[in-house]
Amino acid sequence: MDRQAERRTTAAHTVPASMRAAVAARFGAPEVVQLRDVPTPQPGPDEVLVRVHATTVSIADHRLRAADLPRGLGFLRIVALGAFRPRKPILGMEAAGEVVRVGAHVTGFAPGDRVMVMRGGRMGCHAQYVTARAEGAVAAIPGSMSYEDAAALVFGGYTAVSFLDRVDLSEGTRVLVNGASGAVGTAVVQLASSAGAHVTAVTSARNADLVRGLGAAQVVDYAAEDFATGEDRWDVIVECVGNAPFSRVERVLAPRGTLLLVIADGPSMLRERAQSRRSGKLVTHTGSLFGTAAIEAVAAHAAAGDLRPVVDRTFDLDDIVAAHRYVDTGRKRGAVVVRVP
Ligand SMILES: NC(=O)c1ccc[n+]([C@@H]2O[C@H](COP(=O)([O-])OP(=O)(O)OC[C@H]3O[C@@H](n4cnc5c(N)ncnc54)[C@H](OP(=O)(O)O)[C@@H]3O)[C@@H](O)[C@H]2O)c1
Repeated sequence: MDRQAERRTTAAHTVPASMRAAVAARFGAPEVVQLRDVPTPQPGPDEVLVRVHATTVSIADHRLRAADLPRGLGFLRIVALGAFRPRKPILGMEAAGEVVRVGAHVTGFAPGDRVMVMRGGRMGCHAQYVTARAEGAVAAIPGSMSYEDAAALVFGGYTAVSFLDRVDLSEGTRVLVNGASGAVGTAVVQLASSAGAHVTAVTSARNADLVRGLGAAQVVDYAAEDFATGEDRWDVIVECVGNAPFSRVERVLAPRGTLLLVIADGPSMLRERAQSRRSGKLVTHTGSLFGTAAIEAVAAHAAAGDLRPVVDRTFDLDDIVAAHRYVDTGRKRGAVVVRVP
């Protein structure tokens, strides 16, 4: 169908009063997630309503579903996740789909637009419809990219552009990515290497070819070698695993280097300012690019060919429990995509 015809079809799209959604009504194993009919959300005046075609089950969904927070952050559980059950029972941080309704104040999007959305902590994307703030993290899907590929880009790509915004990457900048085969790591490897950086990827032997194919110049098999005890030095270390705090990597971080703690426990967060002051290096657990700017950067990198989706497995929404089970193994490569019928 050409784009014009697609738009007309979408304009005629009737939004049902209820929709299918994957609902985690309590904390626990993957089996707590159940498919239910729930009311379809209505877009506010500044929002668009998106018919979701694809989403992913990410590590964030695992954390929220299983109440699995990094060490020392348990005190945040009630505020961040909910007291007795997930406060956001429909999980899913991101989606790709088509706009089917726009609020009265929305000018930038129209029914029929193919978009990718990052709702972040608002969740709700494991469903047939989701709303998004038109001036928030919504961007047009580049070219003819499929919804599944677009959905696969968002979680890791958004996180990667947000954290890499903290550093200047140029020809020869030495970057180490710990956890290079995950959703975030695969995006960081691609973006850093396409910026000209010399990328060292820390991963297991089975993922060595994957990360080399994404642009890594050097691969460290974490089961055979400890990157933190060798003679190499890096200007930027991107920590995506949870086992490389500043205390472990300070020695191999170049003078004035940066440690980007994509994952950090409570003690690391508390110490990062003092560690930065004392060492003259930057230690941070936050990115610096968010919202529209971040999702548009993801779309632009994808359009330029700097960022390709890495899809491990694809499940139908009906099989979302199996998708959660697979993500729970901790072994996924890139994204686990969920097709939404
Ligand atoms: N701060 C933020 O805004 C933000 C945003 C997104 C994610 N995060 C956090 O960042 C972390 C990474 O997220 P993600 O989505 O990339 O996770 P992910 O996709 O679930 O990561 C899975 C990958 O981790 C690798 N891995 C496991 N143990 C490893 C080790 N010891 N050394 C190296 N690699 C190892 C696995 O490879 P092998 O099978 O080869 O071991 C697997 O491919 C998570 O903890 C997540 O909560 C934070």
